[in-house]
Amino acid sequence: MLMKKSRFAAGLAAVAAIALLAGCAGGTDTAASADAKPDYTKMTSKELADHLIFNGGFNLAHETQEGTTVAARMTQDNIQKMCTESRNKPTPEQVGKIVAEARASIKYPEGGIKLGDWKKGRDLAWSGFGYRAGHNNDNHASREVGANCYNCHQIGTDRTGGNFGPSLTGYGKTRGNTEGTRKFVYEVIYNAHSYFPCTIMPRMGYSGMLKEESISHVMAYLLDPESPVNK
Ligand code: HEC
Repeated sequence: MLMKKSRFAAGLAAVAAIALLAGCAGGTDTAASADAKPDYTKMTSKELADHLIFNGGFNLAHETQEGTTVAARMTQDNIQKMCTESRNKPTPEQVGKIVAEARASIKYPEGGIKLGDWKKGRDLAWSGFGYRAGHNNDNHASREVGANCYNCHQIGTDRTGGNFGPSLTGYGKTRGNTEGTRKFVYEVIYNAHSYFPCTIMPRMGYSGMLKEESISHVMAYLLDPESPVNK
């Protein structure tokens, strides 16, 4: 599903994101919610909302590919906390902290940032495979983890993309395949908060979702003059 900027689609996307994260375990975990027997009258509206959404509907104890649980994915790190607290409008002080922390998190490839194979990059940019946990967790041994860029960006002209992020069509042609652009794009893919504090763009490198090699392929798709993105 592609993400489009409309309230309806944003709502759907949010539901899909939760479904991707937790797996649609609707109705299978009623035992846990029955055991808990919560007193609804003593809950705040937020507690009630959290309870209705997460307890019973989703199995938070479900194991994930990274070796923890769905519940662990709900635990916010520093950057996420600052973005939640400020409702994604960080104060200048928070901006400084977020950007500094994001920059410090970036690990660069040995031997410099190089472009890989744009054809592999095109497949990865399109693919949303990987890290989905549910009845059948995505099996990473069966297929490479995708980069999901089309969900939010228009990139090539041969397929449709989302519009949560800016169009990246002709990116290498307009930005140039220079060392400076390569560094910028690598850093944005690795941890986009280093330039866009409280962005919705996932931290592909930082989270370990994309390995250095996959990043190099996606970068080639964006920047290689031979890539159809730049034709
Ligand atoms: C969940 C949505 C989302 C996904 C998925 C996503 N991005 Fe983004 N991206 C954004 C948004 C939004 C921005 C604009 C920054 C901002 O305002 O937050 C952006 C910005 C960028 C930029 C900087 C554009 C500029 O102004 O020069 C690049 C490059 C980029 N994304 C590449 C990618 C690539 C490559 C992928 C896949 C690995 C990807 N994005 C996946 C949402 C996303």
